[in-house]
Amino acid sequence: MRLFKCILALCLFIGIKQWIEVTTKGFCLQKIFADDLPPNPDWDVTPLSSCAFAELKTALNQPFRLLGSGSECFAFLSADGTTVIKFFKLDHARPVYFLKGLIREDHSAYAGSLSNHWLLKMPLISPFTSWRDRLLGIREFRITRTFSSLKLAFDELQEETGIVYLHLNPTKNFQQTITLIDANGYQHQVELDTTRFLVQQCATPLETHLSALITKNDLAQAQRSIDSLFELILNRCQKGFADRDFINRNIGYIGNQAIEIDLGSFHKDPAMKKAWAYKRELFFATLELKEWLKSHSPELLSYYDKRLNELIQKD
Ligand SMILES: Nc1ncnc2c1ncn2[C@@H]1O[C@H](COP(=O)(O)OP(=O)(O)O)[C@@H](O)[C@H]1O
Ligand SMILES: [Mg+2]
Repeated sequence: MRLFKCILALCLFIGIKQWIEVTTKGFCLQKIFADDLPPNPDWDVTPLSSCAFAELKTALNQPFRLLGSGSECFAFLSADGTTVIKFFKLDHARPVYFLKGLIREDHSAYAGSLSNHWLLKMPLISPFTSWRDRLLGIREFRITRTFSSLKLAFDELQEETGIVYLHLNPTKNFQQTITLIDANGYQHQVELDTTRFLVQQCATPLETHLSALITKNDLAQAQRSIDSLFELILNRCQKGFADRDFINRNIGYIGNQAIEIDLGSFHKDPAMKKAWAYKRELFFATLELKEWLKSHSPELLSYYDKRLNELIQKD
């Protein structure tokens, strides 16, 4: 009977937690702050011109409503619908850290590489030392991976990503708070100078964009959009970058121009400039789109096949 009550209590707890996750899209203010990460020179970026900075401040001087949540960040959309601001998931207690960090991946060597968390200084005995290092290590591994990718995007892939600004170290020049509205309509004020965030142009998700054109029967614009997607992949490869996470959900359109809206999966890979590598990328990175086109537009699918073949056969 006692066991039954325990199981019931556990199910109730998990149920309530899941319900809160769904209704809030997992957002709570504490998750985007991290006191244990001191400024890091690797995350510094070239400052904007004074004119561009003034424009940015104006763009951020409006409410932003929660738009979506991914594996590494919460995205908020401006009231005028043009700008997205993303805050990173920096909390320690993410389920993925326990699931992967303790069982599947050992990133303990990263523990203490970014963070000065008090737990790192605590003398522990085995196996607690290893558990602590694995849990803290996977978080720092993932932050390092994401932040280096964001830095590459800001420094070298602005056109391909629509990134406008990156703020990973504290500053003093904003002197401004931003209004964030969560999934339940509650407003939060967040100080920009002390928070880590990025600003990006808002894009229409790939499938929404193509669906609208297919519904309007606007084949010409839809074909232009497919061309732009191939160009996006080619440009990135020719600049020598690979992307671990090129999926439909992470691509968006501004007009008919494709951009990568998820900026967390880039790394430098000069081999991508080679013809065999970028041709392989053109094929595999667009396989999900091909499947989608099969069930949404046979005409567009033929165009996709034709363009892909042309690009793959080109010298
Ligand atoms: N620039 C953008 N324009 C429109 N929607 C966006 C934009 N950036 C993110 N989103 C929405 O927010 C979600 C999560 O953003 P994303 O950058 O993919 O986060 P993560 O890196 O954590 O996966 C996206 O799937 C998309 O729905
Ligand atoms: Mg994503």
